[in-house]
Amino acid sequence: MKAYETVINRYKADIEAELHQIVNDQAVPEELLNAMLYSLKAGGKRIRPILLLAVCEGYDRVFSSAYQVAAAIEMIHTYSLIHDDLPAMDDDDLRRGQPTNHKVYGEAHAILAGDALLTKSFEVLATLPTEEVSSEVKLELIRLMAKAAGAAGMVGGQAADLEAENKAVQLDKLEYIHHHKTGDLFAYAVQAGAILAGAKKNDQLKLYRFAKELGLAFQIKDDILDVEGDVQVIGKPVGSDDGLNKSTYPGLLTLEGAKDKLAFHKQNAMKELDEIDTELKSLRHLALYIADRDR
Ligand code: IPE
Ligand code: IPE
Ligand code: MG
Ligand code: MG
Ligand code: MG
Repeated sequence: MKAYETVINRYKADIEAELHQIVNDQAVPEELLNAMLYSLKAGGKRIRPILLLAVCEGYDRVFSSAYQVAAAIEMIHTYSLIHDDLPAMDDDDLRRGQPTNHKVYGEAHAILAGDALLTKSFEVLATLPTEEVSSEVKLELIRLMAKAAGAAGMVGGQAADLEAENKAVQLDKLEYIHHHKTGDLFAYAVQAGAILAGAKKNDQLKLYRFAKELGLAFQIKDDILDVEGDVQVIGKPVGSDDGLNKSTYPGLLTLEGAKDKLAFHKQNAMKELDEIDTELKSLRHLALYIADRDR
């Protein structure tokens, strides 16, 4: 088994159990609940929550609240995918190897399932046990999550992505899109891990920079997989970006140019990790996987 697989296997099942417990544990109209559970259970890679836990592990501080924050981030991510696939956005039919949420539950329920996952994620943070996470830290986690997910973060990136369809945009604009639509939630996962683990402020800053570079690398790889991936492996359509005339790294720089950029940002990310005294071994394994993944 590869090193990164060991890290993923250490946390994945517990994250999924946590997700199930959080979402199943409420009095919700049945069809809405089914729509929420459908996308959550469809089985993503769970990269963001695992990143958070890998940071905590590096500081020897994996605890129950960390799993809850990790699950909250995965809920926001899953909501973003449900909405991203809607006809008004990328209009895709396949996600995580299954028909997209709106194909099964209809557009209205897909929109509402996304809304509900987003909202619930903030409730999860607000109700973390105060014995484990102080009120000040909770508030900081909530503030940062709102920023990463909102108009100056992921939602803004998604808007810029849509506006860049059918346009020739420059690299700085494309970098902006990728940083926000994907990098910000990635960075939040690592940042939240560092805060929960009680990492020094200086480490927190380096970890944040690491995660922004890694998030950018991750989205460049996503663009590359949209060109040369295998639909059976990635579990979503290939050629979707081309069909929508999206602005992407391969589109702007060619496939080779995109691969060079991926290597560049991966290297930048690893350099940040090198400057941290703590070893963060699992985080390293994950970072290398993220750049080389085939799904
Ligand atoms: C896909 O994210 C959308 C992006 C932001 C690139 P992932 O590749 O993490 O999707 P899942 O969660 O594994 O399905
Ligand atoms: C999606 O980017 C980013 C978010 C959902 C925030 P993409 O549109 O490239 O993601 P995929 O390729 O559909 O997974
Ligand atoms: Mg999109
Ligand atoms: Mg999409
Ligand atoms: Mg994509």
